[in-house]
Amino acid sequence: MGLQMPQLTGRYLDNITMSKNKKSIDENLRASGVTITEYSAKCMFGTIVHSDLIKDILSEALKILNSSLYKSYDYSLAGRISNGKQAKIELDKAPHCIVEFKDIVEKLSHVYVERFFSTAYGDSKIFSGKCNLHDMWIVEQKKNDYNPLHIHNNQSPAGLSGVLYLETPECISEYSRYKNAQQSESFVVEKGRCEIDGWINLDYGSQTSPDLNNFKMPEKISIPPVPGYCILFPQDTAHQVYPFDGDGSRICISFNVNVWYDQTGVTQWSDILLANNLLANKNKSI
Ligand SMILES: [Fe+2]
Repeated sequence: MGLQMPQLTGRYLDNITMSKNKKSIDENLRASGVTITEYSAKCMFGTIVHSDLIKDILSEALKILNSSLYKSYDYSLAGRISNGKQAKIELDKAPHCIVEFKDIVEKLSHVYVERFFSTAYGDSKIFSGKCNLHDMWIVEQKKNDYNPLHIHNNQSPAGLSGVLYLETPECISEYSRYKNAQQSESFVVEKGRCEIDGWINLDYGSQTSPDLNNFKMPEKISIPPVPGYCILFPQDTAHQVYPFDGDGSRICISFNVNVWYDQTGVTQWSDILLANNLLANKNKSI
């Protein structure tokens, strides 16, 4: 990716006009040869999983939550879930739809790391290794349940985490505005709008509100839990879900993905694993 040079249009900047609307400001700046680069060190992937697969996964999730063999996974998770339930998914016994979703997550993770290498190194260093699902669990959040600020970990030092939304109660603020707007790329993320009941907030820095001295936006994004939406982000991205006040269940599946490097000269730990021939077992998909 080279530096994008502005195209000068007529007498440079002569056409710039005042506006109060961000979209028209941006359009006007671009038309006048001004480029806008918003910079942030991290990125998140988001995608809509097919509704047929969501239906199957939700049905399996409900079976696990309502099974007579249900075992709480609270001891291992950050969520403060008193009215709902949290259950680990046993991946070695998982039904086909979960395996199908696992494959999607692993492929998406691989592309995520490839994209990072390309962004960081261009063509000079290309990712070679494996992304395999480390663990996956169901969270059923009900009225007043919440998930405090936390990060995730994987078996590998490098890793990704994510969540797939399966069911959302109507009472969650603004949910209905988004649920029929799945064609819009921007429906899931609103920068700077935070702390909305039942939404997930990702914090990628310490800025919590707009800074009018240094023109810095909050380092947070807030995402409504629209069923079918799946997000993927670096494992150390702090995130939280505020409680909601109303009937119904907010059901999602969270997961962690190991990232193993099978090339030398990337990280010290991967060099040690390679030198001691310890990577073969780590590379196995669950
Ligand atoms: Fe989490």
